[in-house]
Amino acid sequence: FGSFNPDRRAARLAKAADVEALRRIARRRTPKPAFDYVDGAAGQELTYRRSREAFESVELLPKILHGTDTADLSTEIAGFRSALPFGIAPTGFTRFMHAEGEIGGVRAAEKAGIPFSLSTMGTRSIEEVRDAAPDAERWFQLYLWRDHAASLDLLQRAKAAGVGTLLVTVDTPVPGQRLRDVRNGMVIPPRLTPGTVLDASYRPEWWFNFLTTDSLKFASLSNTSSTLADLISSMFDPGLDLDDLAWIREQWDGQLFVKGVLTRDDARRAMSVGADGLVVSNHGGRQLDRAPVALTSLPGVREEVGPDVPLILDSGVLSGADVVTALCAGADFVLIGRAYLYGLMAGGEQGVSRVIELLEAQIRTDMMLMGAGSIADLGPESMRAPWLER
Ligand code: FNR
Repeated sequence: FGSFNPDRRAARLAKAADVEALRRIARRRTPKPAFDYVDGAAGQELTYRRSREAFESVELLPKILHGTDTADLSTEIAGFRSALPFGIAPTGFTRFMHAEGEIGGVRAAEKAGIPFSLSTMGTRSIEEVRDAAPDAERWFQLYLWRDHAASLDLLQRAKAAGVGTLLVTVDTPVPGQRLRDVRNGMVIPPRLTPGTVLDASYRPEWWFNFLTTDSLKFASLSNTSSTLADLISSMFDPGLDLDDLAWIREQWDGQLFVKGVLTRDDARRAMSVGADGLVVSNHGGRQLDRAPVALTSLPGVREEVGPDVPLILDSGVLSGADVVTALCAGADFVLIGRAYLYGLMAGGEQGVSRVIELLEAQIRTDMMLMGAGSIADLGPESMRAPWLER
């Protein structure tokens, strides 16, 4: 029951030296189906594993005797000056991971001065997220519904709530096959079985929070008024095409990034409808298993779209060194999905703040060691990798 004690929780979070340590705390504190929903990926999880291997294959080049005595980690993305070169990726069902859900994430992002993305599958409404953190840079992620009018309603609500940047996710015509979820018989909300009762005795805080908030309600998702089953079949339009993307572009006059691009061809097509930028992403390895690694796809996409199109990278980022690597390989900005959720599961808002703090410290250290005084100093000349042509 020690986890109910805020001082002990803060001490435990402070002792976590990296995201992996927070992941271990998260695993202890969260029911297995919820932890595995986050931690897992599609199929044999090859794409996710390869994503991690690609980051680990990189050499970052130190630069000595250059007199760099401070590092400025701030950078501009989608018209926003972010204090750090990364933000929080959109994730669905977040209140299943921790009762605070998106509120914990957006408050931590507001304090750190970085963007927070709310998913269409989010478990707090656009308005709740705005009210919780009015000064945060809030982005909205759209899955296009079969019912375009319902999507239009979401866009209008997002606009009214002060969202300036839209991420349109295009890599999910159908959800990927997440085998851990199949094995765990994962359902939302969790069913009361002998297994869940046993779990509750190990993780009283999670269950207490879950049952005493209105989390059960989130099966119907706060941004909608339909049931989960209705929602999923109405939401994922497997026939999503370029005309649909062009239609969204017409409806949204803010910044628009297309999320889920990995190949040169798709990059060119996505940009052809007037997108402002791309999110180079394999959805954290959760969609097409054996899809290319986002990091190694980045140089080709950059070459295709040219130097001026903003590129955001996600998939496999677990450390500050990973963020630095992505920036060197051609990204302008980075999103974190699992790293954020491990922090959230480990300690709600405090846990997310701890993740941000750990990444910031490591980015700063690496930049100082690499003689980089600003984000603009990080480029292909600062790294070596077997997959990077020089
Ligand atoms: C996601 N992701 C995601 N993306 C999206 O566009 N809409 C969504 O609703 C979700 N939901 C979601 C849930 C969970 C549990 C995870 C882990 C991820 C993908 C997410 O935005 C991002 O692309 C990946 O998480 C990036 O990879 P890493 O950082 O998790 O390795």
